[in-house]
Parts: sequence; C-alpha cells; structure tokens
Amino acid sequence: MIVFKDVHKRFGDREILRGVNLEIPAHETTAIFGVSGGGKSTIIKHIVGLLQPTSGDIFVDGVKVNGADEKTLLGIRKKVGFLFQNGALFDSMNIEDNVAFPIREHQKLSRQEVDKLVDEKLTMVGLKPSVVKKLFPEELSGGMLKRAGLARTLALEPSIILYDEPTSGLDPVTSDLITQMIRTLQHELNVTSVLISHDVAETFKASDNFAMLFDGKIIEFGDEATFRHSQNPVVQQFINSSSKGPIQFD
Ligand SMILES: Nc1ncnc2c1ncn2[C@@H]1O[C@H](COP(=O)(O)OP(=O)(O)O)[C@@H](O)[C@H]1O
Ligand SMILES: [Mg+2]
Repeated sequence: MIVFKDVHKRFGDREILRGVNLEIPAHETTAIFGVSGGGKSTIIKHIVGLLQPTSGDIFVDGVKVNGADEKTLLGIRKKVGFLFQNGALFDSMNIEDNVAFPIREHQKLSRQEVDKLVDEKLTMVGLKPSVVKKLFPEELSGGMLKRAGLARTLALEPSIILYDEPTSGLDPVTSDLITQMIRTLQHELNVTSVLISHDVAETFKASDNFAMLFDGKIIEFGDEATFRHSQNPVVQQFINSSSKGPIQFD
C-alpha cells in the first residue's frame, strides 16, 4: 500500500535517509522504530509529499508521490490522515471548528451534515461532543488534545493514518488509552496505519509489523517475534533499553 524504493534524503550536507526500502502492508499497523533524530518523521513526511526525496521513489496505492502534481497530491492528502507530533490544533478555533476545518476545506456539505460528522468523529475518539465542542485547545488536558487532534485527522475518513509520536508528553495511563484507541480504530475502520513511537512497550501493543530505522536504512522488518528474536545487536539494544526512554547513538 505504501512503498519506499531506495529513498535518499539529504538536508544540507547531512544525508538522513540513505536508501530506505520499505513496504507497508494494507489494513495493518506498521511501527517505525529508531533513535531520536534518526529520520522517522522525515520518512512519514515523504508519504504525504511534505518532503521530496533527494533520490528514490515513494508510492501510495500505486501512485507516485514524489514529483506528483498538485491535483495528485491533493488526492493523496485526502486519503492520508496525519496526526502531527504535537497535535497541532489551531489555538484560535474551538474544538468544533478545528474538527470541522478539513471537512469544510475539502467537501461541500450543509451545516447539519458537518455537525453530524464532527459529533461522530469526537464520539469515535471518546470525547463527548456536548462537553468539548465549544472549548478551546488551551482548556483541554494533554490526553483530550491528542483525542481532538485525532478526531480532526479522522474527519476526512482517511484510509491511511500516520501517527507521529501520538503519546509523547502524556502520562503512562493516558498513553495507554491513546494506544488502545489506535488499536480500536484500526479494527473498526480497517485503515492502514503507520506509527512512530519511542515507547517500545506501547508500540508492541499497538502494531502488527515493525521496521527498524538505523543509519538511514531499514535494517529489520517483521512481526513482534521477529524483533524479539532478532540477532541484530542494534535491534536488541533498542527494544531492551525502551524503559530508559529514547536512546542516543551520537
Ligand atoms: N526540514 C529540515 N531541514 C533540515 N534538517 C531537518 C529537517 N527536517 C529534519 N531535519 C533533520 O533531520 C534529522 C532527522 O529528523 P527527524 O526525521 O525529525 O527525526 P526523528 O523523527 O527520527 O526524531 C534531524 O537531525 C533533523 O534535525
Ligand atoms: Mg520525529
């Protein structure tokens, strides 16, 4: 469903991606493991064309993303929901308008139809519409903000959802709830999900497949058993040091 073919990405004189090959299967959740600053966010920004590779190709549903024209990119962005690292709600809009924003941008619907969709998406992420709609982002707790961000991501009914550190900055209990929600949405909506998280234990609970990014390449790909039994010392060190937070190799 999402394919990376020998993708290189250079920022200035630093080559962050050095030949990424990756095939993300449809209707499952695939996690990307890797050290902080290793290029995980860079990988998923290529999926929606927010970054162009220095060389190599990226395909979504068989459509080439790099070098695509505006119309093609718009089509891809309608299909792919992106939950950014910091939630990224608009501070000046209440929750209702935040969730309605992408719907109003992309679809011509009546007020009632938009209302119905907003209520549906908020309910889906465990928020009570009547309670949160008129609140502003600053009035919400960290966990509620992530949920509201997720409701906005779901607004266009994407078939692919990209989660960039969805539990960063949350307490363990709330992290666990968000992780469970990612799992539930996966089953209910049958989407293809890509998850980036430095929390290895949470990630094992939420994902079907795992990819390990190291030194700009995917050095291991497989299910949980493949990772737990991996002979690769980098993979072993990464999954065993998870409780100490993200490890730094540099
Ligand atoms: N737009 C950019 N311009 C320059 N450097 C960037 C840009 N985006 C990311 N980087 C650099 O690329 C490296 C990888 O970043 P990132 O993909 O965010 O890592 P991760 O998500 O794995 O923590 C970092 O050193 C970061 O500073
Ligand atoms: Mg990142």
